[in-house]
Amino acid sequence: MASRGRILVVDDEANARAALSEILHEEGYTTETAADGFKALKKIEDFDPDVVLTDLKMPGLDGIGLVEKGKTASPAVVFVVMTAFGTIESAVEAVKQGAENYLTKPLDMKMLVLVTERAMEKARLQRENLRLRQILKERNALGHIIAQDPKTQEVLRLVEQVAPTRASVLVLGESGTGKELIAEAIHRGSNRLKAPFIRLNCAALVESLLESELFGHEKGSFTGAVGRREGRFKQADGGTLFLDEVSEIPLPTQVKLLRFLQERTFERVGGNETLKVDVRIIAASNRDLRRQVAEGRFREDLYYRLNVVSVEIPPLRSRRGDIPPLAAFFLRRYAEENGKRLDGFSEDALAALLAYPWPGNVRELENAIERAVVLATGDRIELSHLPTTVIPEQRRDEMPRVPGASIAELERFAILRTLEACGGSTSKAATVLGISARKIQYKMHEYRGGVPAAPPSGLTPDDKDEE
Ligand SMILES: Nc1ncnc2c1ncn2[C@@H]1O[C@H](COP(=O)(O)OP(=O)(O)OP(=O)(O)O)[C@@H](O)[C@H]1O
Ligand SMILES: [Mg+2]
Repeated sequence: MASRGRILVVDDEANARAALSEILHEEGYTTETAADGFKALKKIEDFDPDVVLTDLKMPGLDGIGLVEKGKTASPAVVFVVMTAFGTIESAVEAVKQGAENYLTKPLDMKMLVLVTERAMEKARLQRENLRLRQILKERNALGHIIAQDPKTQEVLRLVEQVAPTRASVLVLGESGTGKELIAEAIHRGSNRLKAPFIRLNCAALVESLLESELFGHEKGSFTGAVGRREGRFKQADGGTLFLDEVSEIPLPTQVKLLRFLQERTFERVGGNETLKVDVRIIAASNRDLRRQVAEGRFREDLYYRLNVVSVEIPPLRSRRGDIPPLAAFFLRRYAEENGKRLDGFSEDALAALLAYPWPGNVRELENAIERAVVLATGDRIELSHLPTTVIPEQRRDEMPRVPGASIAELERFAILRTLEACGGSTSKAATVLGISARKIQYKMHEYRGGVPAAPPSGLTPDDKDEE
């Protein structure tokens, strides 16, 4: 018979110890014994019991001391104390220290069995809770990163390796592969996690603004600089600065960045004061930076400074093992956001997701699932809810079957397909379908909610079909 759990019996009286251990063994538990508190603490470490059943009065470390120390060292262990009749106060004290329950001596067999069973159940729950908390903690550390495919798992292993160091990291990958997510994971996995993670998209700003954003500026250093302003470097002090699309940094700014990487110092734009900060740089690019170097558009010395370690994220099409779990992950997220109950994907929908090459990578998959969740009316995502590009060619023109389909289904098919063909423009689709744009909007609202929605203002449910 499988053991019902592990119990450590602690009593300074050898006979009592042996008898109790024997009884509990008969009840189906695995038992061990210890003669005092200190020996018990050692045994807790080695034996890893679910429940400790301990006498209160013992030489050396007594029962109360054992509960106190044991609870701190092994929070999942459940303690039950045994106390002689008439010394209830010490049992109460033990409960205050964290004991779960107490038994009075001489022991009543029925009570012993009952209290032990309850303590065991409590221990099981506590362990389960600790386990869940541990899983949550691990998840948070890697920020909900889905990594089922061996290639992605390899990326995460590298992330775990480089995160705790202060090395500059270059994250490479096509657009939408998850570069920012990985950069954040590196920050969270470092000892800088309590300090800020600051991001800057280097492609979004012209040269002068980019420098001022990075390094800050002094009052009056350029038109519009009305006061002194600190830059992202200063904001990120103690933490991490994420330079997105780093290939887009103009050459003069590259020089300043290089100097920072060499000396860890910089000056505000228009200022002389030399500032020193402790910032780790993570850069990202979806371009082939080495080619940029070869073409003279990116400084080689800067490239090597940024690229102490490079993390390359493969495109989604070369790690298809991630597609089903990612799709399921986004389904859950967007179903929750939209208040919908969706169980999963139809077989052909999942097959289409797996076959599609995903040029926009994870971001494109995320958008496709979000859209499908909005369009879904039943309890799962069907092929027809996916963007046309994702649907295999031979199935694209599949109409709802006639006879067989209802007018509502045909209408829905016509509206959705026309809208898609018109690039989402309601007015164009309205012209093609020969109905009003307002009716399309009303219908879309209905499809989104999954239930007939309140009509838009100026339109009552009765006249909506007469438009
Ligand atoms: N492995 C993953 N698990 C869960 N979500 C992911 C994963 N990879 C990417 N994502 C999600 O996909 C989206 C795109 O990721 P992210 O913004 O990090 O990509 P990117 O490479 O920085 O894209 P771009 O080059 O366009 O800036 C985000 O919403 C991100 O949360
Ligand atoms: Mg990005």
